[in-house]
This record gives sequence, C-alpha cells and structure tokens, in this order.
Amino acid sequence: MTSDPRHDVVADLRKSSKYATLCEATLERTAAWALTRHPRPKDAAKAAKRKLHQVFGAYLDPGAVALAERVVDDLGDKPDSTALVEAADAILRHHASSKERLAGLSDFYQALWRVTGTPASVLDIACGFSPFALPKMGLAPDCPYDAIDIDTRLMAVAERFRALCGQPGRIEAGDVLALPPEKGADVALVLKTLPCLDQQESGAGARLLRQIKARAIVVTYPVRSLGGRDKNMAATYRDSFARAAAGLDRRVDEIEGEDELVFVLTQL
Ligand SMILES: C[S@@+](CC[C@H](N)C(=O)[O-])C[C@H]1O[C@@H](n2cnc3c(N)ncnc32)[C@H](O)[C@@H]1O
Repeated sequence: MTSDPRHDVVADLRKSSKYATLCEATLERTAAWALTRHPRPKDAAKAAKRKLHQVFGAYLDPGAVALAERVVDDLGDKPDSTALVEAADAILRHHASSKERLAGLSDFYQALWRVTGTPASVLDIACGFSPFALPKMGLAPDCPYDAIDIDTRLMAVAERFRALCGQPGRIEAGDVLALPPEKGADVALVLKTLPCLDQQESGAGARLLRQIKARAIVVTYPVRSLGGRDKNMAATYRDSFARAAAGLDRRVDEIEGEDELVFVLTQL
C-alpha cells in the first residue's frame, strides 16, 4: 500500500485484465472520482470498475481486441481492398455500437458526408472500433483520419489497421475529459458518445461540443439500450442534444434513420 489512495486504486485497476491497458489519464480520473464516494481504496476500486464497465467494457465482447489483433496480424504487409473489407466485417461484429450499423455501414457514412460535404479531414472522437470501418467510410485517399479513445491496446491495433488501409492520419489513446482534443478537423465525429461522457461527469458532453474545433460536428445517439429496445431513449436523447447544442451558434441538421439519432452541427 502507498500513502496516496489514488495510486492504490489505479494499481488495482491495472491488475484487472479488462482495464489494464486503459490510458493513465482515464484510470487516474476514474480513481479520483471513485474516492470522492468511497474513501477506502478497495471500495473505490470496485466503484471505478463498475464505472469503467458502464462507459467502456460493456460495449466490447470479451476477447474483441485480441481478435482484432489476430485479424490485423493475418493481413500481412500489403492486403488488397477485399481483404481489408473482410477484416473490417470480422472485427466490427465484436463491438456493440459498431455491430448495430454493420449491415448498412457504407450507406451510413455516405449519408453523413451528404450533409457535412466531402470531408477534407476527419477527427473521430471516442472512436471505439470505428477505425476498422475505414474501408467502408468512403473517404478520399488523401483525407487524414485521426481518432482517439481511451484504450491503448485497441488504439495501437486500430493505428496498424489505418496504416494498412493507406489512409493518412493518426490514431492514439487519450481521454477527452482529462484533455480536450487539441487537433482541429474539417469534420469531427462524436458517435454515440455524449451519454457516455455525461455518465462520467455531468455536463461533459455539452462542454466537449464547445471545445471541438471543426467546421462540422456529427453527433449521434443510440435509440435502444445495449439490452434491447427502449421506447423513450430517442425522446430523451433528442432533449439532451437540444440542451447540449443550445447557444452553439451552429446550424443543426438531422439525418433520418431508424437505428441511431444523427445530428450535424455546421459552423454558420
Ligand atoms: C458507445 S461507444 C461509441 C464508440 C464509437 N464512437 C461508435 O459509435 O461505435 C462510447 C466510446 O466512448 C469511449 N470513451 C468513454 N469515455 C471516454 C473518454 N473520457 N475519452 C475518450 N473516449 C471515451 C469508450 O471507450 C467507447 O469506445
């Protein structure tokens, strides 16, 4: 035991196979939050694990990152486009929010670009497994694609996949609540993420929207819970988006869809 309880909680989280590879900033921040509720490090570590499950672990099948690593290893040095598409399908199936849009993935991105205009660069914030959708995003070959999420291991394999796709850009681990994204982009994607940020810090989603430097910001929300249907989710998130976007001085367009609420915020 060290004298700083936060170190003890972080050390406990680092021992857990699920959260060992989350970036330091996320573990430190979550440990600090948990200690405000539970002074004993053991109790705080339990609360921190529950929170990390809610905002990260719940979306992943066990072994999903290891599977992505195996699939990317098997691609070799110079995969052709068919191999990249097959790899994308094999990997995306194992992440809850990616799986939901897998059937119409190319159409999903095309519908976004129709409203945002063809992106000159993309920043995918809290990207999850989305970098593996690169072969289906329909980006121009010279369009930089940058992405960020909290798991160092997932971001490392996603970065290898980006390089194999030949898309310029950089995918790296980071915590957008600890450090708001510094990079600007033509189009920022914030897909199904604002509720997840609000679960970690009240008002964090709205704050992030103010911090993003992008001509267009795509914000989406799930319309059903991980467990199945939820009739009220769309209405709840529509209200939540209206509050988060109020006073942003951006035009709001909504893209009709059945599986996800999609809003595009464009600079006036
Ligand atoms: C519901 S998933 C959405 C993933 C992806 N955007 C998509 O639509 O498939 C929410 C994502 O937010 C990420 N996340 C949660 N808190 C974060 C934080 N503080 N900084 C960066 N990413 C975060 C999680 O790791 C998870 O991948």
